Amino acid sequence: MGTNHSRVWDIYTRLFHWLLVSGIAYQYYSAEISDTSIDNHALVGYGLLGLIIWRVIWGIVGPEPVRFSAFVPSPKGLLYYLTAKPRPIFATHNPLGACAVLMFLLMIALQAISGLFMTDDILFTGVLHNWLSSAITDSIIWFHNNAFNLLLVLVGVHVFAVVVHAKTKEPYLIKAMFDGNKPNQQFAVTHDWHMHMKCLICVVISAVKVYLLVNHVPEWLGVEAEDLLDF
Ligand code: HEM
Ligand code: HEM
Repeated sequence: MGTNHSRVWDIYTRLFHWLLVSGIAYQYYSAEISDTSIDNHALVGYGLLGLIIWRVIWGIVGPEPVRFSAFVPSPKGLLYYLTAKPRPIFATHNPLGACAVLMFLLMIALQAISGLFMTDDILFTGVLHNWLSSAITDSIIWFHNNAFNLLLVLVGVHVFAVVVHAKTKEPYLIKAMFDGNKPNQQFAVTHDWHMHMKCLICVVISAVKVYLLVNHVPEWLGVEAEDLLDF
């Protein structure tokens, strides 16, 4: 393997990935294992929603390798990848990995949004719990309690696929999620002030969106909100 490394994952995408992993692990711990108040679970849930919104914006305006236009495949592209022998190696996410990325973004967003409808029947009532009819709210609560198992399956498949790829084809794959580098690729992302400012603006937009969703949207919808997030 040559030493001609190229930066594929910028620092913010890597930070996003490991914050996402830590956040999901905390959500599992706080809801399934620990007996403490659900307030921190809700707060981390808002943070995860902010992360997903950030990644969607970053996927449009971020550096080239992390843009959706660089890795989301057409159905034809996906089919070609699935049937090709040997399968080509991609600098950014391969077509199957890209589907997993989109699934992650969607499932985590739905998990966080459905959390707004939750109650622990003791001290915590989500800001949208009193919005819809109890039949619909009960279905959303059922979704929040059960969809997480699907997310766990996706995490299992993702980690398995990453480890198999790293063992068979791309030994640098996991390390690249830490240092950003994959060898001999066409991308060379540079961290200049332009990128830092762009990221900051994306962070502010995401934070404002979550803040409005939790603190003002319920009021606009005419819901009596009980869990305001005061920054
Ligand atoms: C809760 C657990 C996890 C979740 C939700 C998750 C989610 C994701 C997401 C959304 C991406 C796309 C990154 C982006 O483009 O922004 C990704 C990529 C990646 N993840 Fe994870 N991940 C998890 C655990 C792990 C673990 C434990 C590892 C290490 C073994 C890992 C290794 C990777 C690698 C290497 C990539 C890049 C793959 C490529 O080059 O195409 N992930 N993951
Ligand atoms: C991506 C973010 C989130 C994940 C992954 C997540 C995950 C979970 C899980 C696994 C459970 C346990 C389900 C069970 O009992 O089997 C749970 C319960 C719960 N979640 Fe979340 N959640 C998230 C966001 C939120 C948010 C944003 C809120 C509130 C604003 C929230 C409020 C609750 C409540 C109230 C419970 C029930 C706790 C109880 O029954 O004592 N969650 N969540």
